[in-house]
Amino acid sequence: MNDIAVVHCRQLVTLAGPPGPRTGPAMRSLAIIPDGALRIRDGLIAAVGPRADILRSLSEDTAIVDAGNRIVLPGFIDAHTHPVFFGNRATEFERRIEGATYAEIASEGGGIRSTVRLTADSTPAGLLAASRRYTDWFLRGGTTTIEAKSGYGLSLESELHILKTIRLLAAECRLRYVPTFLGAHEVPDEYRGRARDYTAILIHEMLPRVVEENLAEYCDIFCEPDVFPVDLARPILRAAQSLGLALRIHADQFTPDYASLLAAELHAATADHLECTTPAAFVALRAARVQPVLLPGSVYALGRSRYPDARGMIAAGLPVVLATDFNPGSSPTASMPMILSLAATQLKMTPAEAITAATVNAACSLRRDRQIGSLEPGKAADFVIHECEDYRELPYFYGRDPARAVYLSGACVYGPAA
Ligand code: NIG
Ligand code: FE
Repeated sequence: MNDIAVVHCRQLVTLAGPPGPRTGPAMRSLAIIPDGALRIRDGLIAAVGPRADILRSLSEDTAIVDAGNRIVLPGFIDAHTHPVFFGNRATEFERRIEGATYAEIASEGGGIRSTVRLTADSTPAGLLAASRRYTDWFLRGGTTTIEAKSGYGLSLESELHILKTIRLLAAECRLRYVPTFLGAHEVPDEYRGRARDYTAILIHEMLPRVVEENLAEYCDIFCEPDVFPVDLARPILRAAQSLGLALRIHADQFTPDYASLLAAELHAATADHLECTTPAAFVALRAARVQPVLLPGSVYALGRSRYPDARGMIAAGLPVVLATDFNPGSSPTASMPMILSLAATQLKMTPAEAITAATVNAACSLRRDRQIGSLEPGKAADFVIHECEDYRELPYFYGRDPARAVYLSGACVYGPAA
């Protein structure tokens, strides 16, 4: 039996608390144990408490992990990423700096469709290697679980291939993956001006195969009036639901109170982005128990200034989640510490609220809250030793990834012992 004790944690940030997503003042409570320790058996957390209590129960076979007087947190759960793509869009980045907009570049065939072309031209080994490289980037930031979307294929075979690549990565057991089908990320080149025809393919060919091959848990869509408008998004999402997939929706990134209301109507698990959402839609989201997933990295990297109204959402009782939106266009970062920094400075979330949004609340949004998201007995031993003395340093010292060692199910997957 594998038996480990993690000791010498200056702050053991457990996030222990009642089950379910945290809202309002509960987002500020991190249940920190000063000089805390963890006992792990067979990859699961067996006990959590002050060091003296844990040390009392050790056996001869217990392996000691010394956190070196650093802080220990649950691994971050990044509930919105697009990690499987080939090439990058540094050229478009430069064009945007010179004044072109994201929408202009997209309408010229760039944007998502340019990554679709690069991905189509890649070999299976090349695509797997590119995505594996990003696994390391997530780990370096202290992330142990990501929600991973397809969406750079946009045909039956290529979307299945991307979802199978996610499955291969998951089998490497360095990072946990929750797969999402995003065939409705953009209308592909072959269907330009015929979004309705592509919608029929999504509903009748792609979704049934994805479900038959058990390749996704969620279905997502980029719902905007000039990409997939609500009248096309609704039948796609209803079809996904009837096949057993739960929903996550790219909502209100550019258009106020548009897709967020569809997310509420369909009881989606999450509505993501919400840069343009107003308090009227917050009420609808709350009533329908839709969790907001905020992606300040995409606002930052697009050089925009309209961040989502996190304070308004928290005041409205919404269990906010934070994620990177890692992708080659609007958010080329896999770093959750960077997102925590943006949450603090731009969204005015306190460090504790941001950490709750990136752990427990994110786990709830992925229906993984019984397994991960906090350091409590019975959960997976997914934890991170950060090079900090206090949890508030995570958003405070920005532009660095302070994770020193990352453990998944009690095994070191990044850092000195990996
Ligand atoms: O979440 N907005 C749509 N999808 C991504 C961007 C993907 C891309 O530009 O490649 C997003 O921001
Ligand atoms: Fe996204």
